[in-house]
Amino acid sequence: MADTFTQRYALVTGANKGIGFEICRQLASKGMKVILASRNEKRGIEARERLLKESRSISDDDVVFHQLDVADPASAVAVAHFIETKFGRLDILVNNAGFTGVAIEGDISVYQECLEANIIAAQGGQAHPFHPKTTGRLIETLEGSKECIETNYYGTKRITETLIPLLQKSDSPTIVNVSSTFSTLLLQPNEWAKGVFSSNSLNEGKVEEVLHEFLKDFIDGKLQQNHWPPNFAAYKVSKAAVNAYTRIIARKYPSFCINSVCPGFVRTDICYNLGVLSEAEGAEAPVKLALLPDGGPSGSFFSREEALSLY
Ligand SMILES: NC(=O)c1ccc[n+]([C@@H]2O[C@H](COP(=O)([O-])OP(=O)(O)OC[C@H]3O[C@@H](n4cnc5c(N)ncnc54)[C@H](OP(=O)(O)O)[C@@H]3O)[C@@H](O)[C@H]2O)c1
Repeated sequence: MADTFTQRYALVTGANKGIGFEICRQLASKGMKVILASRNEKRGIEARERLLKESRSISDDDVVFHQLDVADPASAVAVAHFIETKFGRLDILVNNAGFTGVAIEGDISVYQECLEANIIAAQGGQAHPFHPKTTGRLIETLEGSKECIETNYYGTKRITETLIPLLQKSDSPTIVNVSSTFSTLLLQPNEWAKGVFSSNSLNEGKVEEVLHEFLKDFIDGKLQQNHWPPNFAAYKVSKAAVNAYTRIIARKYPSFCINSVCPGFVRTDICYNLGVLSEAEGAEAPVKLALLPDGGPSGSFFSREEALSLY
């Protein structure tokens, strides 16, 4: 067991299942003390119990549970208070909680088809219209899109801002934002949004103006007219905003190591378990970035393969 000088403390959001759960397992296995955070108390407590039961090398002391809904400012303050009181600082924050804002009606293989169409679009650098062969339909409502942006972008920002003072007490503060290759600007047909996201004079106000305009166009029925992504629109825009936010805070906190990463296409609930990687494989790249040595890259977006080949 590490002594108090070497012990590192890590918080993982959305950790009751999927990639977040596995990130907790891998960090705890590598000697971190992990705060497994879940918005639902029952699901979080059960997840911690499952983790301890399944992983003999992880002891009761290595993982603690705390409730955290990233969309709820009061729960962010409560988790910060808990960490401050119990550990005095935080070394690693993994903003993993996420939501696509997309539901499927009928045949779920439409999801796989859509993913493949997006990969082709991203590789070809051109967004093609998507006409599914299957009968399934992707449903993107205003409510789902708002929740997606609130969870992915504002949730990441809220938890980061609340925990920065505790991270500043660490010798090697590290933040990993779990993003997606769907964030690529090649999948953002709106030239204005693309320009904002790729600008060197980026700031949070400009990023949030893009999110605001997107939702305004959604309400006004102008998504197509104003060239927002034709599918997974809120998810693509929110994850591009997460990458932009990653660059902004990396610049603001030069002593921190802050990066965003796509975990790969992983079999979890978010993608109807259609992924090609196991949850453990999906956790590898975020964990690698969480444990980067001092002086590592900051302000970058990594795909899984790139992150795994670092150092
Ligand atoms: N799976 C993939 O192929 C893939 C690919 C690229 C990126 N990602 C990203 O990887 C991350 C983890 O996703 P996953 O694949 O592990 O999906 P998942 O199994 O569906 O897990 C998502 C987690 O986020 C939590 N969550 C959602 N809204 C929350 C909120 N407001 N507050 C706190 N927690 C919240 C969920 O909690 P509940 O159980 O309470 O709903 C759940 O624990 C996401 O950011 C996702 O965008 C996944």
